[in-house]
Amino acid sequence: MIQTQVTPLRVGMAAQRLPPPNALVIFGATGDLTHRKLIPALFDLFCDGKLPVNFSVIGFARRDKSDDDFRNELRDSVEQFARNKPNGAIDRWNKFAQGVFYHKSDFHTPEGYIALAKRLDELDAIRGTNGNRLFYLATAPEYYELIIEQLGKANLAQPQGPWERVIIEKPFGSDLNSAYDLNQKILAVFKEEQVYRIDHYLGKETVQNIFAFRFANTLLEPLWNRNYVDHVQITAAETVGVEDRGGYYDTAGALRDMVQSHLMQLVALTAMEPPVSFDANSVHDEKVKVLRALAPIVGRDVDERVVRGQYDAGQGMVMYRDEPRVAKDSCAETYVALKLEIDNWRWAGVPFYVRTGKRLPKRATEIRVELKPVPHPLFTHEVVSGIEPNVISMRIQPDEGIHIKFAAKQPGQAIQLSNVKMDFYYKTAFGMPPGEAYETLLLDAMRGDSTLFNRKDEVEVAWSLITPILERWANLPPPAFPNYAAGTWGPEVANILLARDGRAWRAP
Ligand code: BG6
Repeated sequence: MIQTQVTPLRVGMAAQRLPPPNALVIFGATGDLTHRKLIPALFDLFCDGKLPVNFSVIGFARRDKSDDDFRNELRDSVEQFARNKPNGAIDRWNKFAQGVFYHKSDFHTPEGYIALAKRLDELDAIRGTNGNRLFYLATAPEYYELIIEQLGKANLAQPQGPWERVIIEKPFGSDLNSAYDLNQKILAVFKEEQVYRIDHYLGKETVQNIFAFRFANTLLEPLWNRNYVDHVQITAAETVGVEDRGGYYDTAGALRDMVQSHLMQLVALTAMEPPVSFDANSVHDEKVKVLRALAPIVGRDVDERVVRGQYDAGQGMVMYRDEPRVAKDSCAETYVALKLEIDNWRWAGVPFYVRTGKRLPKRATEIRVELKPVPHPLFTHEVVSGIEPNVISMRIQPDEGIHIKFAAKQPGQAIQLSNVKMDFYYKTAFGMPPGEAYETLLLDAMRGDSTLFNRKDEVEVAWSLITPILERWANLPPPAFPNYAAGTWGPEVANILLARDGRAWRAP
């Protein structure tokens, strides 16, 4: 258990209303996401008293096993990945596990869904789940359409009780056409308001705090535009490689895996206009407007404004092409950097440089807004040497917080300036670490709040920026991969991307 300190900032922290009774059906119940994220998040919510008493989970998967086998497997994962440990709280675990069931079925067998419907009705009677159903598609993406279609055929998409909803994991499509088709198939069965397209970055406390920082303070708004911002750098750096996900990653690459989803969301939240209210559609409307304003990157622009890399061996780590289930001549990019331009009144002429990569030197996700230099140099060159323009950085993870860099006079009789920082850290300010993204998102879906999920048009407009880049790459000769050593900050071409504009990446 994480120890929390007492801090005055926590006094009056809002306790949210409990979601209504419901049954959560997880498709792909034996998979990694269920074991590492979903069930640990549910157990932590349960221990914190945030789940309704009348709640159940049904794991739907192909392998043969009993409810008890399933519970025992989950217990091991929860022990490893949740904040609360079953071994230290066996009564709580047993109580939680009583509401967990396993349903064996193939994804394509109609009888499996009819039996599921029957089981859900039984749970309504036994556990009081009240006809509310939340379906979570945590399978490989090739099963999404099939499962949706079968849910429709088994009459599981029309509310029998107050609601039925479906959560769909990323990747949502692999290009614009496939995302559009998937939306069509889903919307033939469910209504848009029943569909929750997940991007777990939106569940991160620090990502939601971008709304608070920008729209609950007057401090930033006058600066947050082309008059004062020189450029924005968004970095999502990971130290891990592809681990055991080579099979998926080798067909996806960093552009699909990280940029189309997580990084587009960070760009949208950083650049969007204030919504008229904080309801889901108003927020989606503003995000979509920004994404629509992104200047298309097509044809030769791709070569100018997008760079890609793949990691080589380095610092005792193997090269990407030697990872399990990765092709020996793979052209999948494990690093990508882009120069984005937002063609609207607020941001015209302000580049947004975005990069992400695996096997970089440090795990850090950060949005760095660099302001323009002062208009009139009051101090001599010697006094200001080494002084950088003001920077506002929002640290998404780890060491979650916000930092403002500015110049200050060094103590002493001489006038000499230094760069200094004002720091806000979540952990120390509130005395508790930020919550886990999946906890927030599961609760929101149970409550019917889709603000932190993606609307149909949002996903499609993000794909419409990415797809021409993928098409250009598909038509070029194979890149000279690998081109950066594991444990370094990516390929040299990424530095050239900024150097051409007289700028440089800053290490987060
Ligand atoms: C996932 C990607 O969506 O996000 C992974 O598929 C990536 O490749 C992960 O590692 C990063 O998430 P987080 O929360 O660790 O930053």
